[in-house]
Amino acid sequence: MRCTQGFILLAAFALVSTITADELPQQTKEDNIFQRTFQRLHQEPPPPESTSRNRANIEYLEIEQKLDNFNESETRTWQMRYISNDEFYQEGSPFFIFVGGEWEISTGYVTGGHLYDLAKEHNGYLFYTEHRYYGQSLPTSNMDNENIQYLGVRQALADLAHFIEHMRETIPGASQSKVIIAGGSYSATMVTWFKKLYPELATGAWASSAPLFAKVNFVEYKEITGQSIRLVAGEQCYNRIQNGIAKMEELFANKRGAEVKAILKLCDAFDEYNDLDLWTLFSEISDIFAGVVQTHNTGQIESVCNKIMEGEDDISGVAGYLLTQFNSNTCNLLTYKAIIASMMDSTFDNNIMRQWIYQTCNEFGWYQTSGSRQQPFGTKFPVTLYTQMCADIYGERFTNEFIYNQVQATNELFGGLAPNVENVYFTHGQLDPWRAMGIQNETQATILPLYAHCKDFGSISDRDSNEMRASKEKFAQLVRQWISADSDVDSVANNKAKSFLNKLRN
Ligand SMILES: *[C@@H]1O[C@H](CO)[C@@H](O)[C@H](O)[C@H]1NC(C)=O
Ligand SMILES: *[C@@H]1O[C@H](CO)[C@@H](O)[C@H](O)[C@H]1NC(C)=O
Repeated sequence: MRCTQGFILLAAFALVSTITADELPQQTKEDNIFQRTFQRLHQEPPPPESTSRNRANIEYLEIEQKLDNFNESETRTWQMRYISNDEFYQEGSPFFIFVGGEWEISTGYVTGGHLYDLAKEHNGYLFYTEHRYYGQSLPTSNMDNENIQYLGVRQALADLAHFIEHMRETIPGASQSKVIIAGGSYSATMVTWFKKLYPELATGAWASSAPLFAKVNFVEYKEITGQSIRLVAGEQCYNRIQNGIAKMEELFANKRGAEVKAILKLCDAFDEYNDLDLWTLFSEISDIFAGVVQTHNTGQIESVCNKIMEGEDDISGVAGYLLTQFNSNTCNLLTYKAIIASMMDSTFDNNIMRQWIYQTCNEFGWYQTSGSRQQPFGTKFPVTLYTQMCADIYGERFTNEFIYNQVQATNELFGGLAPNVENVYFTHGQLDPWRAMGIQNETQATILPLYAHCKDFGSISDRDSNEMRASKEKFAQLVRQWISADSDVDSVANNKAKSFLNKLRN
């Protein structure tokens, strides 16, 4: 077994640990409603069931990376974590890399699922890389406003480039290995952009649920959230949510905010005459519904709607469900000050809000606002809420103008909805609110009816819909084409011949 830089955290760990990442993240000491909702919306794409029997091949390793990949005079380095599985690897065979996004990596993607099955078919080497500033890949001692500047997608893509180059140089027979990369959500964005910036380092890519167009005022997100609720659970539930929220807004507008405070058990600190508090509350309510839709599996949206329909009227139906989610023993602290506080702390812990919101302020926008009337969550979470947060958390240089310019620069660099990349297979779930920022043209992307966000990584299974199965088979076919394309057939064959000759000599 290979052991390059870093240490083996290893096999013993892999043997005893059971994979529970499918569940919601465990509560932490800092746990609050904002963090819970946020974690649900930014969790690792559901890891596939493990089918590997060779746990001894699975290692947590580290590779040295530069703190700043674009500044020659910056010499500081850090250790990036990754997981590898060489159970199928034969010299010269391809790499299959699942790329990590804004979450901690776990062994699911190197021990089961469709990418794993393809690695098995092609004798591939499996890897799962962790994104800088997330999980345990921490380049700086904390994330204060000075240190967080090295967090960004271009830095992360450069890390991945160095990772691939290093593996090709150090793994026996791998110098010409083809590379298949895959990702879900933000890491699907990453694999697409990686193909654009470093086409020579990746043969092909699978991007599941990739937002590609950076946009500050992402009004479509809550539109699709509403449409998906209507599609799966019906008009009645949609209307009840819309009317319940409208009723709350009306009470606030008519100086009867105290009644809403009582119904939702909001803490006294909540100021019903303060816009930022109102916006924070309604933003959070809409995000709770978004969490249900984005992670939907059969029955999930339906059961939330059943709960909502139990209420005697619209407002008590909606509030009854929300109270189960706010879930505090005392009062529910849903103030602007509280949400900001959960991002001001610059120490690394399980809360990733400070990192991800920084990336949105500095690169992507993607604020899921109430800017459209074609959604049921009201009118009270305008884009100003989010741009204000950027300045309050990361400093005054995050003006509106700065944020819009940064987002535009992202689109100019990567091409938005026309990334102009080759060999990238795009998939989206029809119910997924993120898909509006991705490629929707069905000659360029596969849309999977009635699936949500990142739901297609499991092995081909009887539980798959026809469309899901066809999509997985299509990707498998593409991988066969990419891998057998002429140039490298020869080098793989050469490597195999060489290693055979070496064995004969020994
Ligand atoms: C590059 O790194 C050096 C050394 O840390 C630093 O002094 C300089 O300001 C950096 N340049 C830029 C453009 O960030
Ligand atoms: C969809 O993509 C195809 C192939 O790139 C293109 O010819 C067509 O015009 C696109 N359709 C729309 C509606 O954008």
